[in-house]
Amino acid sequence: MRDLARGWRADGDTIGLVPTMGALHAGHMSLVAQACDENARVVVSIFINPLQFGPNEDLARYPRTPEQDVHMLRQAGVDAIYMPSVETMYPPGATTRVVVSGVAEPLEGAARPSHFEGVTTAVAKLFAATEPDRAYFGQKDAQQVAVVRRMTKDLDLGVEIRVGATVRERDGLALSSRNANLDPAQRQAATSLSRALRSAADAYRSGERDPARLRAVLHEVLAAEPMAQVDYAEVVDPETFRAPGMLAVIAARIGQTRLIDNHDLREPYPG
Ligand code: PAJ
Repeated sequence: MRDLARGWRADGDTIGLVPTMGALHAGHMSLVAQACDENARVVVSIFINPLQFGPNEDLARYPRTPEQDVHMLRQAGVDAIYMPSVETMYPPGATTRVVVSGVAEPLEGAARPSHFEGVTTAVAKLFAATEPDRAYFGQKDAQQVAVVRRMTKDLDLGVEIRVGATVRERDGLALSSRNANLDPAQRQAATSLSRALRSAADAYRSGERDPARLRAVLHEVLAAEPMAQVDYAEVVDPETFRAPGMLAVIAARIGQTRLIDNHDLREPYPG
């Protein structure tokens, strides 16, 4: 992969990278479209990164649709699909990890120990393999964006981090590869996350500015959905991911499936 990227660079072409774990949907494809608009060459990586899954998490049941993914990316006109094996990413003997402290610690960092260290280790290696000018991440995983930005700055990686808006279903559910694991009743219950965000955004628009009240709105909506087990629902600072702030963030389990969503309450709620 690196030789290909270096050849492009020698020709003066800019390179955009979209890192993914596959099972591609319209959220991923919006990042791909943005990358194609802004770069001469676009690489999409597909790598289900074992390092970012905890021992009791859903690595084994993570959805896999490789043929469909390749088809969608060909249609979109990307220049390369990088699908490294686990052995290529983590050869025997590899023990180095990229660990971001601070912003990687609360919320997702607390709920999923070593998750972000898995993400940053993989993303750093994907940057090394593809040498991109720009890399594209979704606002859907807001804390991941903040962690990757921190790493990129602190390690002088010289990659511009670009962020794409969260793509949602008509009923508000944020697109996620994991939605494929929801049965119809769970799929309905999953709308409680976006409904909670919308209610908090409505409260903000009506003048509510008390973080504790806005947080309570999130919890009220989520508590009304018996199938949703809330990991956290907080209103935090979008840079530190600590309270107080105006970014509403939610993680909840619906059956076996863990979903996350967020919305900056200062921005109009879409739709
Ligand atoms: P994955 O979950 O496959 O997501 C790949 C990219 O798509 C991430 O940047 C994510 O934020 C973005 N994305 C997912 N759902 C989206 C939606 N509904 N709207 C907009 N963007 C969306 O995130 C990962 O993979 C991994 O952690 C990875 C960065 C590839 C490192 O392994």
